[in-house]
Amino acid sequence: MAGGRRSDINIVLLFVVTLSISLFPIMKSQQFDKFYFVQQWPPAVCDGRTGKCVGKGMYYFTIHGVWPQKGGKSVINCPGTQFDFNKISSLANTLHQIMKDVINADDQFLWSHEWNKHGVCSESRYSMKQYFQMAINMKYKINVLSALRMGGITPNNHLKAKQRVEGAMFTAYNAYPLLRCKKDSSGQSLLTEVVMCFDNDGVTLLNCTTTKSNCDADVLF
Ligand SMILES: *[C@@H]1O[C@H](CO)[C@@H](O)[C@H](O)[C@H]1NC(C)=O
Repeated sequence: MAGGRRSDINIVLLFVVTLSISLFPIMKSQQFDKFYFVQQWPPAVCDGRTGKCVGKGMYYFTIHGVWPQKGGKSVINCPGTQFDFNKISSLANTLHQIMKDVINADDQFLWSHEWNKHGVCSESRYSMKQYFQMAINMKYKINVLSALRMGGITPNNHLKAKQRVEGAMFTAYNAYPLLRCKKDSSGQSLLTEVVMCFDNDGVTLLNCTTTKSNCDADVLF
């Protein structure tokens, strides 16, 4: 009898364990519904910074990060695997070209920061290597500078209508970006980042509509 009860308990335990394991991926996959693919304009990032800032002379967009979103907000600092360069060493050459630390030129510092703060929150679906590969794929897909050029917009540190910048991205990709700005010393809106929104499949473009841009109607670019 005692043995029978024990095996009943074992069966119940087995059931609970199996159920938890099978539900776990479903529960985790609901932690984020889309990605922000954030590219930055290095001269604007460096504007107003004292000390060295290596991005001053970089006239091309580089990846800031890929940020999992949930209900219109970034999900950050989730528990999970900490950054490990060895896991992405095969991508390092490519990443050094397109995901640069535009302040201190310490690219691995940026990668580590971005993974530990943002990437880890999509780890249920994308391993560290898959996450950085996704960033590379997005970068190859979204060429901000060429989209803007096709819309007649070239960087010359003059004011441009925000709507025109957004319109150029829409014409190129059929999806509206989110523009992010900071104020320069004279209080003007300096375009620092262009965000494109992706579904959590990492491939499908979406309109960036949930967050309002912090840029003025005219932006310096
Ligand atoms: C974004 O919105 C516009 C309408 O404002 C629509 O034409 C376009 O198809 C949308 N793009 C996506 C990717 O949903």
